[in-house]
Amino acid sequence: MLFLQENISLKPYNTFSIPVKARYFVEIFNEAALEELLTSAVLKENELLVLGGGSNVLFTRDFPGLVLKVSIPGIVQEVLGNEVFVEAGAGVIWNDLVTYCVGHQLAGVENLTLIPGTVGASPIQNIGAYGVELKDVFYSCTGYEIATGEKRVFTYEECHFGYRDSVFKNELKSKYILTAVKFKLSREAVINIQYGAIQTELERRGITAPTIADVSKVVAEIRVSKLPDPSTIGNAGSFFKNPIIEKATLLEIQKSYPDVVNYPLPNNHYKLAAGWLIESCGFKGMVSGETGTWKNQALVLVNHGEATGQEVYSFSEHIIDTVCQKFAITLEREVNIL
Ligand code: FAD
Ligand code: EPU
Repeated sequence: MLFLQENISLKPYNTFSIPVKARYFVEIFNEAALEELLTSAVLKENELLVLGGGSNVLFTRDFPGLVLKVSIPGIVQEVLGNEVFVEAGAGVIWNDLVTYCVGHQLAGVENLTLIPGTVGASPIQNIGAYGVELKDVFYSCTGYEIATGEKRVFTYEECHFGYRDSVFKNELKSKYILTAVKFKLSREAVINIQYGAIQTELERRGITAPTIADVSKVVAEIRVSKLPDPSTIGNAGSFFKNPIIEKATLLEIQKSYPDVVNYPLPNNHYKLAAGWLIESCGFKGMVSGETGTWKNQALVLVNHGEATGQEVYSFSEHIIDTVCQKFAITLEREVNIL
């Protein structure tokens, strides 16, 4: 039985805490309920928005259709030699999966500690942090096609993962509802502490041979020191992507700004720290009405309490224009605008 609600506030369902309303809202806890929904009139007659934890969305208007919150639980493990496959329901909280893996000495996701949201959303933008991306541990995912109700498994190759990108943001945008994700983890920890801040923190604590639990703990502490907690300050993490540019463009920017923060990528490309670009335009910690940028991380836009989605969006346009005028770089939003 589906429990369909009408005209409900989405404020508790998005980490920006934007108080818009949904015409219809339903939460599902298993595949049977999803199969029932896929043949229902409310789904066929309304625009659909699939939501996990709402930590990567900005609502700029009331949603006129059906919001589906996917809350399918469960974590199962399958061992094959040194490799361990863990499959989690789309509704599992991402950090609960990390805690499970670290607790069972399964290496691979510890650098992704404390990323908000659900397992089901993790492949959509190929979540990443501290030198690791979802694609590094991804094995497959399962989803239902909205148009036909058909169930399908996606392999790694079929997901076309890129930096904050996948097939689910392109050709298959809004076409599938993911119900589970399967990860390939390792019993032999391959510690990845290349990302500067992790190394420095471990050294500061005198830890020379870190375990995955140590890495997870240090990542959690770094994140808490930099990022605002959505339960007190509304936000959706990085609002923009870090721009990827060619070497010639970097050299041009360096003529005027030799200290521009950049990271080399393969094929003569470079990733710029968008936070640095935004801070260099004087935005870090700026308060603009009810919105602004976070004092410790200029890439994060915040809701100081009563912001509307439109207000946050307009502020993001102002940032894009200013950065473009100064550096001739057009920032791309990472957050999904609705
Ligand atoms: P939602 O915001 O609910 O949805 C995001 C998108 O996925 C939407 O397009 C939605 O339609 C789609 N979607 C959600 N669930 C499903 C499903 N089951 N099937 C099909 N489509 C679905 N991200 C990073 O990559 N790295 C970080 O370090 C990071 N740090 C953050 C820190 C903070 C404080 C916050 C608030 C956010 C951060 N994020 C980060 C962004 C966010 O945590 C991720 O994008 C996360 O994967 C979103 O999960 P969610 O369940 O909240 O997705
Ligand atoms: N910087 C500044 N000023 C700022 C912020 C950053 O100068 O206000 C510079 C600093 O030099 C800093 C560098 O940028 O050393 C990198 O900053 P940080 O380590 O905070 O990482 P980021 O590039 O800003 C990315 C991800 C985060 C992820 C972190 C850690 C994107 C868009 N963001 O941020 O992901 O947690 O790296 O790996 O790639 C998210 O996607 O929501 C998110 C939070």
